[in-house]
Amino acid sequence: MDQTEQNKLKALVGQEAVKYVKDGMLLGLGTGSTVRYMVDALGKRVKDEGLNITAATTSTRTTKQAESLGIKIVSLDSLDHLDLVIDGADEISDDFQGIKGGGGALLWEKIVANTAKKYMWIVDESKLVHKLGKFPLPVEVIPFGSVHVFNRLEKMGYKPTWRMDGDKKFLTDEKNYIIDLHLGEIDKPHELYDKLIKMVGVVEVGLFLDRVNDVIVGTANGPVVKHAR
Ligand code: A5P
Repeated sequence: MDQTEQNKLKALVGQEAVKYVKDGMLLGLGTGSTVRYMVDALGKRVKDEGLNITAATTSTRTTKQAESLGIKIVSLDSLDHLDLVIDGADEISDDFQGIKGGGGALLWEKIVANTAKKYMWIVDESKLVHKLGKFPLPVEVIPFGSVHVFNRLEKMGYKPTWRMDGDKKFLTDEKNYIIDLHLGEIDKPHELYDKLIKMVGVVEVGLFLDRVNDVIVGTANGPVVKHAR
């Protein structure tokens, strides 16, 4: 799929997702290029229909965009829960497990997802895979001692690389680093998650397991909704 086609599908699912937003909802807004389309479409509904919603976001990037469109953003901690969280994903396996964090927002994304009554992913069909792992798995680490974490991951055979931002290490919203693991295939995502999250210095891992409720997939024939759990 070429970039233009992919962007078309991203826009399609973004516009489709906001149809699930109802007046008065508490919303969680994800991060990434697909979510950008969704936030644009949401801003349009707020403007055109006077839709009254309150939202928390998963990144400063999304906050900036949403606020510029007149969407009311509050801190996650000021809300008891979120009715609906809409986010993108980098890979979704046949059994609805996911890799996220390609945009570096995995930590806030997971925290926001944990408060959701309904958790939805919006993706173009290129994100659907049989098994996870082709997409590099992001691991967020605190900067202190992170070279040692990196070296340990290397010894474990996980082929780590630093996420870069030009010639500097990429910094997350929490001022942490990201190490991407080039695994090829992940046979046992739950075991891998448990192993990685127990490493001192690791803050979060981009494996989003047993979480998503609904996935809207953009296909050439239109959006398809898949119910996971
Ligand atoms: C952000 O950290 C990610 O989890 C994104 O949700 C994910 O990378 C999907 O991004 P795109 O919509 O840009 O592909």
